[in-house]
Amino acid sequence: MSKLEVKLNNMLQFASEQEVMSYREKINLCQKQIEEKSGKGNDFLGWVNLPAEITEEQLKSVEKVAAELRGKSEIVVVVGIGGSYLGAKAVIEALGNSFSMLNDTGTKVLFAGNSICEDYHAELLKMLDKHSYSIVVISKSGTTTEPAIAFRLLKQHLESKVGKSEAASRIVAITDQSKGALRKLADTEGYRTFIIPDDVGGRYSVLTPVGLLPIAIAGFDIRKMVEGARKAMSDTAANVPFEQNPACQYAAARNALYAKGKKVEIMVNYTPKLHYVTEWWKQLYGESEGKENKGIFPAGVDFTTDLHSMGQYIQEGERFIFETVLSVSNSSHKLTIPEDPENLDQLNYIAGKRLSEVNHMAKLGTIVAHNDGGVPNIQISIPELSEYWIGYLLYFFERACAISGYTIDVNPFDQPGVEAYKKNMFALLGKPGFEEQGAELRKRLGI
Ligand code: PA5
Repeated sequence: MSKLEVKLNNMLQFASEQEVMSYREKINLCQKQIEEKSGKGNDFLGWVNLPAEITEEQLKSVEKVAAELRGKSEIVVVVGIGGSYLGAKAVIEALGNSFSMLNDTGTKVLFAGNSICEDYHAELLKMLDKHSYSIVVISKSGTTTEPAIAFRLLKQHLESKVGKSEAASRIVAITDQSKGALRKLADTEGYRTFIIPDDVGGRYSVLTPVGLLPIAIAGFDIRKMVEGARKAMSDTAANVPFEQNPACQYAAARNALYAKGKKVEIMVNYTPKLHYVTEWWKQLYGESEGKENKGIFPAGVDFTTDLHSMGQYIQEGERFIFETVLSVSNSSHKLTIPEDPENLDQLNYIAGKRLSEVNHMAKLGTIVAHNDGGVPNIQISIPELSEYWIGYLLYFFERACAISGYTIDVNPFDQPGVEAYKKNMFALLGKPGFEEQGAELRKRLGI
């Protein structure tokens, strides 16, 4: 198999082929809206043709800055949250060696500003005392509190370590072309910058410098990633018929299940390397669909690890869930189970088998068990974990997400609900202009 496959056979007892097919007309219309930029949020459709529009010059400039930062830094700290963090984290975790942190050579990419955890940031700064490092700070709005706090800390730390002018040469900002505090700061301090296009929202930005620069710094081939995304773009385009279009199939299947009351989609992987791909997918689908009291709730598990925790609930708990199993057909390494003359663990019956074969059987056995327990199952597989296939997969998910959002008639490109916590946090912290809300909130919270 050298393509991404979407298999629906283990969900059709819960929503029939006919019910999946009933979305055909609606989804074809959604595809048309995406292509013609005539649907909701149509000023945020820059990601649709992005893979084809990335120029040689853009790739070269990302690679050049990546090589330069790698050349002078043991560590590059990438500051960002949400869409300004998860894409790069997902790709680096999926493609990297699981123990790369213990390798002596090669620049390590670390992340900051994706939480306000005092201990994490204090430990990070203490560790950075002993290492040469650079910073890539990413914020489209340029005003998000979490990365702004982390960047303020890191900027001061780096400046006091190497001096203001050397620090400026080690800081790269990725932000809006003209708006926002980060743009202003970058221009004032003379940082190098990359632009996040106006028409690409954070969670659809992994194929802009937001994702490409950290991924290139981590040593991966961004050209292959873009090549994979380009192929996904043509395989999921509006002119590819519904029946052969993997993004349409996935969007139709999940919506057919949603219509049957399956309101939670659990993304399942069988390799921990995909943990952050699930985190990225959760943000993409959660922020795109969860509005107007609608939308499938995106959840995630890592199997077989979580079969020993969430497995019980999935097998026998409330029946409002379905699973989407994301698998990788070929492992990058070969490892077989050794024979043991004592056989105390009684594993000799699988001696000589590869771990990937055992993992595969665990997957198939689980799919059937969960089916029997009333859990429908969609299967998505890619041939291997490589730059090309990750690029393909991410674009595929973006396209299917936009189709799905339009299918339930929401704007998949805004996130108005994210503002609510911010306003309360500002009020409680005493931000000027929020005094009245602050007093009211303190009363409600009894503080
Ligand atoms: O998808 C989105 O737009 C959001 O999740 C943003 O990426 C996130 O809130 C970070 O925003 P910013 O890049 O403006 O700091």
